[in-house]
Amino acid sequence: MIPGDGTGPEVVREGLKVLKAAEEKFKIRFQFTEFDYGGTRYLRTGETLPEGAVDQLRGFQAIYLGAIGHPEVKPGILEPGILLKLRFELDLYINLRPVKLYPNVETPLANKGPKDIDFVVVRENTEDLYVGVGGFFKKGTPDEVALQEMVATRKGVERCLRYAFELTRRRNKMKKLTLCAKTNVLTYANDLWWRAFNEVAKDYPDIKPDYAHVDATTMWMVKNPEWFDVIVTPNLFGDIITDLGAMIQGGMGVAAGGNINPQGVSMFEPIGGSAPKYTGQGVINPIAAILAVQMMLETLGEEKAAAAVENSAMRAIGKMKSMNAGQMGYSTSQVGDLVAAGL
Ligand code: IPM
Ligand code: MN
Repeated sequence: MIPGDGTGPEVVREGLKVLKAAEEKFKIRFQFTEFDYGGTRYLRTGETLPEGAVDQLRGFQAIYLGAIGHPEVKPGILEPGILLKLRFELDLYINLRPVKLYPNVETPLANKGPKDIDFVVVRENTEDLYVGVGGFFKKGTPDEVALQEMVATRKGVERCLRYAFELTRRRNKMKKLTLCAKTNVLTYANDLWWRAFNEVAKDYPDIKPDYAHVDATTMWMVKNPEWFDVIVTPNLFGDIITDLGAMIQGGMGVAAGGNINPQGVSMFEPIGGSAPKYTGQGVINPIAAILAVQMMLETLGEEKAAAAVENSAMRAIGKMKSMNAGQMGYSTSQVGDLVAAGL
């Protein structure tokens, strides 16, 4: 567990409450180790991840993350120093982000309901513009040049595509996989994606391959979200469209994500961030953190427990007034109690 900063520890506490209830009910045993990585530790020690931290984390089966981000730490330190470092070094090459509108959750999309908004985004998580390759030339002068490289490797793209095809098959919904990219402009990096997509598609004749440019994807997500089953996309586009996805599924209070290495340790988190303005008030919505527990259980092969957590979360959602912090009709810990009791 890395509860992290801001409201991270508050929501992790509720996720853990639910996980402990699932342990009881399904006779699973977890062992927990807590790490204090995050902005608070950084301000105290000047260290993001200490020496040996990554290797130590490799020894676990799953990582449960609250949030990393501190208002007193300037941007560009904790992100590469903790979050991105873990993604790269643990090779968490899939960022799995379900976009699912549960009953009783308000969506800003007019005339759309739970049957329309239910898809999964498979975001590649270790390449693209995130690799931090680039540089300056004549920095700080009027002639300054800044370069930031977009990286796509055949291996990295193909493993992500195969994961997405397999997931589309397992979901068994529309059996449709949409590649979201920008092949009309990114004529190298996204051309590789396009060619690999069409080649891998041949191994999945039961899956309907589909394509949408990223700009059009944002349009369809608002206008016709029911068209999507699984979307696979490079890292930066995935980052952007999943914030939009979080909004149409009811906001950051419900959006969970998994940073997955199918062959190793994976990391699960509510994607809403540390929400400094709500910290310590007991008003933040822990449902996203609880749904991250569901994803963790599912990835660990505890499918029954995962389904039970989702069902119990759904029943709790049915009782809540809103998914927004401070408007739930319950405190953070009361929502955790509801879901745990529901199990
Ligand atoms: C996310 C976040 C991160 C990202 C930031 C904090 C580096 O926005 O998990 O989506 O861009 O991937
Ligand atoms: Mn993001």
